[in-house]
Amino acid sequence: MIIVLLGAPGAGKGTQAKRLVEKRGFGHVSTGDLLRDAVSRGTELGRRADEYMKGGRLVPDEIVLGLVEELFEAGTSADIILDGFPRTVPQAEGLDALLSKHETAVDCVVFIDITVDEAIRRLSSRVSCSDCGAVYNLMWKPPATDGVCDVCGGELTRRSDDEPEAIERRFTEYHAATKPLTDYYRSRGILRAVDTSLTSEEIQSEIDGILDGGCGCGTRETG
Ligand code: AP5
Ligand code: MG
Repeated sequence: MIIVLLGAPGAGKGTQAKRLVEKRGFGHVSTGDLLRDAVSRGTELGRRADEYMKGGRLVPDEIVLGLVEELFEAGTSADIILDGFPRTVPQAEGLDALLSKHETAVDCVVFIDITVDEAIRRLSSRVSCSDCGAVYNLMWKPPATDGVCDVCGGELTRRSDDEPEAIERRFTEYHAATKPLTDYYRSRGILRAVDTSLTSEEIQSEIDGILDGGCGCGTRETG
């Protein structure tokens, strides 16, 4: 099963993806995490991506598609949750072509949206573990010990693009390039929107309901 988590910055894509990995054993592909990893390793691709990411702009499609293609060529699990990818119509078309080569297709797109004010509220209090990637919120889901990950004892840090100015820029990009993907997937009958006023746990149940119902997305087309 291939599920896309589509949503605004700070909507909770990473939070929901991690839970689906733990609960259902999905493979997790987060292009944001892959790009941050390339930046921290100082690779050529990372240096190119960093220019865009720190200001909150989208990384060019060819870089992101190249990264995802490499991943699929190396082999992935059959059940995958795509978090933050695709993010533009050309990326969605590139994904379709790639999956079709592997004789599969996107089964369902779960759409979570929030406002820029809510994103600033959430992201200005988000910290995550630099070792295992666990995500916390200092306002309502703090770690037991300040600055230390409950899961692995790693150091908790803030993302450099979680400043208000970069968040606003990420929203501008989101509205211009990513939100139009809702039409792309709605027209195929595979878009499922979740109610974003819910708590993280309630959203989890909604997503479980969608997946347990076989996505309720109709017959998927392959090839
Ligand atoms: P990426 O890493 O994908 O960031 P993003 O889309 O901006 O989203 P975030 O990771 O900030 O938020 P999230 O939705 O995962 O929320 P989270 O679960 O952490 O991308 C970063 C950058 O990389 C992009 O700007 C771009 O430059 C580049 N990039 C990545 N992919 C790309 C692509 N495909 N193409 C081009 N460029 C790309 O939750 C946020 C906080 O809220 C946490 O503290 C959490 O605890 C809390 N929270 C979660 N759910 C709830 C809830 N229901 N209620 C209250 N709080 C909640
Ligand atoms: Mg994320």
